Amino acid sequence: MPERREKFYLTTPIYYTNGLPHIGHTYTTVVCDTVRRYKRMRGYEVVMTTGTDEHGVNVERAAKKAGIPESEFVANMAEAWRSLWDELGIPADEFVRTTDIEHVRAVQWLFKLCKENGYVYKGHYTGQYCIYDNAFVSDAKPGENCPDCGRPLETLTEENYFFKLSAFQKPLLDFYRKNPNFIQPESRRNEVVTFVEGGLKDLSITRTTIRWGIPVPGEEPHVFYVWFDALTAYLSAVGGPDYEKRGMWPADVHFVGKDIIRFHTVYWPAFLMAAMLPLPKQVWAHGWFLMDAAKMSKSKGNVVLPRPIANMLGMDALRYFMLREVVFGQDGNFSYDALVTRYNSDLANGLGNLASRTTALIEKNFAGKVPKPAERQPQDDVLAKEAQSAIGEVLERFDKMEFARALEAIWAVIAAADKYLTTEQPWALGASDAGQARKGTILWTTAELLRIVSALAHPVLPDSTARVWSLLGQTIPLGSVELDGLRWGQLVPGTPLGKSQTLFPRVDKTEAIERIEAMANEELNSASAAPKPASVPAVAATPAAAAAAPAVPDKIGIEDFVKVEMRVGQIKTAERIVGADKLLKLTVDIGTEIRQICAGIAQYYEPESLIGRKVAVVVNLAPRKLRGVESNGMVIAASVGPEGRPVLAGFLEDVEVGSRLK
Ligand code: MSP
Repeated sequence: MPERREKFYLTTPIYYTNGLPHIGHTYTTVVCDTVRRYKRMRGYEVVMTTGTDEHGVNVERAAKKAGIPESEFVANMAEAWRSLWDELGIPADEFVRTTDIEHVRAVQWLFKLCKENGYVYKGHYTGQYCIYDNAFVSDAKPGENCPDCGRPLETLTEENYFFKLSAFQKPLLDFYRKNPNFIQPESRRNEVVTFVEGGLKDLSITRTTIRWGIPVPGEEPHVFYVWFDALTAYLSAVGGPDYEKRGMWPADVHFVGKDIIRFHTVYWPAFLMAAMLPLPKQVWAHGWFLMDAAKMSKSKGNVVLPRPIANMLGMDALRYFMLREVVFGQDGNFSYDALVTRYNSDLANGLGNLASRTTALIEKNFAGKVPKPAERQPQDDVLAKEAQSAIGEVLERFDKMEFARALEAIWAVIAAADKYLTTEQPWALGASDAGQARKGTILWTTAELLRIVSALAHPVLPDSTARVWSLLGQTIPLGSVELDGLRWGQLVPGTPLGKSQTLFPRVDKTEAIERIEAMANEELNSASAAPKPASVPAVAATPAAAAAAPAVPDKIGIEDFVKVEMRVGQIKTAERIVGADKLLKLTVDIGTEIRQICAGIAQYYEPESLIGRKVAVVVNLAPRKLRGVESNGMVIAASVGPEGRPVLAGFLEDVEVGSRLK
């Protein structure tokens, strides 16, 4: 715990505004938010910056396509990014937009310093340029594709201002040597060192072929190269030319994806050295979330959205999955299957179950007040020791950004407590004095363990741990608890428990995935129809809140009913879908065409038995994907009994295929 509040400044990259956030971007922001919460619990004064990178030819083109001015386009997009981070509980302390006037001034100021110090000169440059990555590709030949994104390069010749990057080869190598932790993880460090040892070419830092950028003062039509502009955002967010007043610069850590490490560990420190400004202390490059072994991207159509997941399972579930499933620094695969499995096993059955078992037993046996522990038995001490030693281990893991390891250590303690309860069986002890005393010891022990676990897991699971915390009757906000003061034994007997609540309702995997996918389709459709912020539903406050059926209005008018077009359809083919136990893929003749429709009836109908059957079909439902399979319409079925067994609606007389239902 620092004597005086030490400062800690951390950043995410600032995201491009020509697309909307997917879980790749969410990952970086979640990591940053976790470290922010952790550092606050270690007593630091923390600032976290994120924002939007709004200049460049991509934005020019996207705005043109949308038929609106660039400034309006980026304002809408920036708001969409900002409000999503707010909704997901990962808001910026400083949200910087590269169109902010303070930022514009900071970029012009940085350029001036570099120029005054002799590191900027005017020249010409011809090269192969990737307009998507906003970078010239050195050594590429005309007609080649971009080695990073695979899209065609364009030949560009420009009068530019150049930055003397070549002058910084030695200073950079010296800096890396003196600051061995500057680039993390180690493997990335070696990669960068090898690159710099290979020699550095001067870098063009202004453009005349782009209009939508920050003007170079007195040098119009020159605008700044987007990376010179964007990197400066880290500094402009905390004061720009006046950074000393705020006292936050230099940054303690820039979190970035591995794709942009060179910009952060070569260009950025070189610009700062040229301007004689302090350098950031660390750049941490994490891996990618892959979808079917490919990096997620809008152009590949394989993006996963965070909001539907947060709506269905709660944001904590997504945070937990991201940090637990992937070793920080390495690539990891994303799958809904693995996500829901983790949710059910570690959160619903693990933390959620331990909390509900413990508090329900305290309610029942001790009138809802934390019991007083009586004489201890060796097994109580074993558990206490495990929890106490987890404190040290978890802090050490967090310090090293080993999030998966930190969570493993916490969940090992949860598993031990579960086992302890199962062995000790407090529910089987009688109401005699001795029985009550033993019960009290056992339940105090698991409650105390839950208190410690909640504090340790809080940086990763801010919402649910705060709920466990208040379940245990703790009143100071969990985020302000000092981890350095956390010790076994601080739970005060007699504390009244908070109101009981379910933390992580168990979900049916198939159904949960279907719901997430349906919400994602809806969001993607509405986002492409109208690229405006707030055109999509907000995140539900509690996990699985979306699982509850939407409220049905009391009465609707005929004008609403006629919007639904239903027809008689005839099933032509039916087959099971691999990996989706409940779904059948049908082709259905609706009179005018044959449609592919997915129906959640696989557990009750054999595919062969359906061929030729006439069914009622909603034909004007927007198409959506279920488990990756397109479904274009809906087959009507009754939902029978508590388990919702589907029974297909049919006709008592023979009816012509395609007839309208009225
Ligand atoms: N605008 C630049 C960054 C400028 S920083 C001065 C940029 N923006 S971006 O929108 O493309 O987002 C980049 C960051 O998003 C990556 O560096 C990474 O942190 C994150 N990710 C984007 N896709 C990702 C995955 N599929 N997986 C993990 N992170 C990914 O580059």
